[in-house]
Amino acid sequence: MNILFLGDIIGSSGRKAIKSLLGAAINEFSIDMVIANGENAAGGFGITKKIAEELFDYGIDVITSGNHIFDKREILDYLPLCEKIIRPANYPEEVPGNGTYIFSINGFQAAVINISGVVFMDSLNCPFRTVTRELEKLPESVKVKIIDFHAEVTSEKMCMGWYLDRKVSAVIGTHTHVPTADERVLPNGTGYITDVWMTGPYDSVIGVKKDIALKKFLTKMPIRFDMAKKDIRLCGVLVTIDDDTGRCHAIKRVSIPLNT
Ligand SMILES: [Fe+2]
Ligand SMILES: [Fe+2]
Repeated sequence: MNILFLGDIIGSSGRKAIKSLLGAAINEFSIDMVIANGENAAGGFGITKKIAEELFDYGIDVITSGNHIFDKREILDYLPLCEKIIRPANYPEEVPGNGTYIFSINGFQAAVINISGVVFMDSLNCPFRTVTRELEKLPESVKVKIIDFHAEVTSEKMCMGWYLDRKVSAVIGTHTHVPTADERVLPNGTGYITDVWMTGPYDSVIGVKKDIALKKFLTKMPIRFDMAKKDIRLCGVLVTIDDDTGRCHAIKRVSIPLNT
């Protein structure tokens, strides 16, 4: 099974990249399933029903998220209705939505689990114990298991990789919007990367217009963020997994520029 996992989709630029490039990428890499982090898909902050449906139409099968999932209030009503959008499983129990989605494809089932880190992030439940509980709930028949670990700190992300080596097919880091070059298959068959980039404008500071981000650091004043629009790229990882065992064979970074 070939899975394409795309880094955080940033506003209209990110959606434009998905619209223009995803179909060809699915064909070129013989993709069976597309997972994308959509927490910044609505103008950089959150996601709406309309935008989620647009992304599903372009070929995304499952949308993961993170700390920005509730930025648009309407998602509170939509999350319980749309199981294909997941939010970190380590939110308190009463929070709307689910942390796990099981996708059926070609007679196989693939579970996608979203977990948030807690270092320099909101102090949600322990990510390690939460992911263990989510995995225990999965039916025996589910062999392919993909984790979106949405976290800030590289050490926390690496620990999650080692913690889950053998237990899942891949641990993919998101949230920083900055790629790391450490993709590899861990010794017991789990694909790993600390962070998988973003799908959006690279002439920016993690998606935001450069001058605005810089002004924030220089003045320390509150400032309205505006998303950048130039040097748009579709970025993520291509993960090849044995359908029967759930073991990862290969993980490779993918970056496709949008020629505008
Ligand atoms: Fe993000
Ligand atoms: Fe985030």
